[in-house]
This record gives sequence, structure tokens and C-alpha cells, in this order.
Amino acid sequence: MNQSNTSLIDQFGRKVDYIRLSITDRCDFRCVYCMAEDMTFLPRDEVLTLEECARLVQVFVGLGVSKVRITGGEPLVRKNALWLFQEIGQLPGLRELVTTTNGSQLEHMAKDLRAANVSRINISVDSLNAARFKKITRTGDLDKVLRGLQAAKQAGFKGIKLNTVLMRGFNDDEAESLVEFAVNQEIDIAFIEEMPLGEVDHTRESTYVSNADTLARLQKQFTLVSSTENTGGPAKYWRIANSQTKIGFISPHSHNFCEACNRVRITCKGELYLCLGQEDKVDLMPLLREYPHDDQPLLEAILRSMSIKPKGHDFDLRRAEPAVIRFMSVTGG
Ligand code: 5AD
Ligand code: SF4
Repeated sequence: MNQSNTSLIDQFGRKVDYIRLSITDRCDFRCVYCMAEDMTFLPRDEVLTLEECARLVQVFVGLGVSKVRITGGEPLVRKNALWLFQEIGQLPGLRELVTTTNGSQLEHMAKDLRAANVSRINISVDSLNAARFKKITRTGDLDKVLRGLQAAKQAGFKGIKLNTVLMRGFNDDEAESLVEFAVNQEIDIAFIEEMPLGEVDHTRESTYVSNADTLARLQKQFTLVSSTENTGGPAKYWRIANSQTKIGFISPHSHNFCEACNRVRITCKGELYLCLGQEDKVDLMPLLREYPHDDQPLLEAILRSMSIKPKGHDFDLRRAEPAVIRFMSVTGG
């Protein structure tokens, strides 16, 4: 095959070189914006094995993917997750292996992840108040997560980023203190607007905080310098003057990033979703299981999927039904 049919280019000319793979829908937290209180999780045999995950990533990297993010659920609660990081971390052609975690396991895993070539970590922290943190995560222990953050710093991770979802009535008054914390810790922080993914115990409209409002508030306290940095995703970055810290605003409701979209998502069930906000997908698990020793059918299905990658997405907060039925914990953040 020549170069043009062995790399992932969609019908709008966008090159896909970044995959986000969810390796479990399970999590030790139950964040209110992510999960219902009584979640049922997938039975084991409906979830990709770690060997299948490794094989899948290898095929994507063979197709020119150079950045892989491992997500969940909480990826680090999956048994033997470290093995997968080690496998992926040594793939030739891979430029960046990164992960998004709730931080609960970092205290004991950070060092091994760094040694496995994980280059950056995003840690979800929505509050610096232990009682509130517990209220938002339902089961989380803030102290443990903060010890995990310190372990990641000690292990030598650079560019650690906090992910924060601000929700009205829960933590919307903490934007400034979270940024201050990030500045003191010399790490970055991103504010993610709440997305209508899955049915939870509140209406999304009642808690929605726009990033435009958060930015306006932060500008009263910090000198923010607009950055042109673009990662191909829905984030807009600002630098804080006289600090190491960057603030990202991830605004999935705004449309203007779809043109530069460089990513696809794979659920822990092996579904390849071409867009976070659309249903277009290809089921890869049957191909993995029917052809355990032949990557060709898998490779062809992935190449073909490029023709159904949607131009963009559309979330509507006022819709009674969730725009997208699947939870973030299945699709990956
Ligand atoms: N809306 C916005 N962010 C979400 N996350 C999980 N579910 C949602 C949602 N419905 C966040 C987590 C994590 C990141 C990967 O996604 O807090 O930081
Ligand atoms: Fe777990 Fe992350 Fe979902 Fe919270 S947001 S329940 S930490 S997967």
C-alpha cells in the first residue's frame, strides 16, 4: 500500500494521529457529573482484554498514530494496567503516551508509569476542600489524590495538568483557589465544561457553568496572556503572567475546534467512535476476536472508518434526553 491509504485521513482532510482508549468503565469514584449513584458496570467478557488493547494500539500506531491517551473509567484501577502502559510505551513510532486519572492510585503507581514512558498525566481535581471533594466524587479521598500528585511530581512528570469540572452550586466558587494552587504547584489546570454524557442525578442545565464566565472571573484576579497553542482539541490556553502555569478552557459546546480535530476514541468495549458528540462508530471487538492472528481485517476497518468521521458535533443542554447516551466512563474523556 502506498502512503495515502495507510494513514488515517478523513473525508475533510483531517489527519487522525491521536487516539484515546478507555480501558475500563469502572472507577473507584462516582463523580456526580459522570456517573449515577447506582452504576452497573460491564461484564468482563464485554470489555477488551489488555492484550486486545495492546494489539489495537499497535495497529493504530502502525497507521501513523503518534499520541495515545489511556483513559477510563479510572484506568489505574484496572488490574495489570501497568503492563499495558509498558507495552505501549515501547512501541516504535509513538511520540507520546499520556493518561487521564483521578489520582487515587498515583501514590503507588507514579514511579512505574514514568518508567514505562508515560510522558504526561492529567489528574481530575474538582475541589480542594475535602468535604466538598467527597460530595462531588461521592467516594473520593482528597488527601490521597494530593499525595498522588506529589508522587507524580517526585517521579519526574513534567506538564502535570489538573482537570476541573466546575458545577454551579457545587464548586463554582473555587476557580480562583484551584488556579492559585496550580500556580503554587507549578502545574497546569484545565476547566472542562460539563457535558451531557449519560443520565446522572441532576439536570445538566442546573449546574452548567460556562468557560466564558470562568475566564472573566479569573481575569479579575490573574493576568492572563492568550496563547496560540493548539492541540487539535477543544481547548484554548492562557498563560498566567510570572508563573509556570497554563490554564486551559475545554469548551465542548463551542463548535470552532471541529475543523482541526485530530482524534478518535475507543471505548473499553472496542467501539471506535469517530466523534465525542456523535454516534458514528465501528465495532472493532468482533474483528479482534474473529481474527486473533490476522490484523488485516482490523486495519481495513479502521481505514474505512475515516469515511464516516462526522464534520462536527452538537450538544444541546436543553434537550430532555442526554445528547449522547453513553457515559464518559465508557467512551473515555
Ligand atoms: N462532563 C465534563 N467532564 C466530564 N468528565 C467526566 N464526565 C464528564 C462530563 N459529563 C471529566 C472528568 C475528567 C475528564 C477526563 O473528564 O472529570 O477530568
Ligand atoms: Fe471516575 Fe473520572 Fe468518572 Fe469521576 S469523572 S467517576 S473519577 S471516571
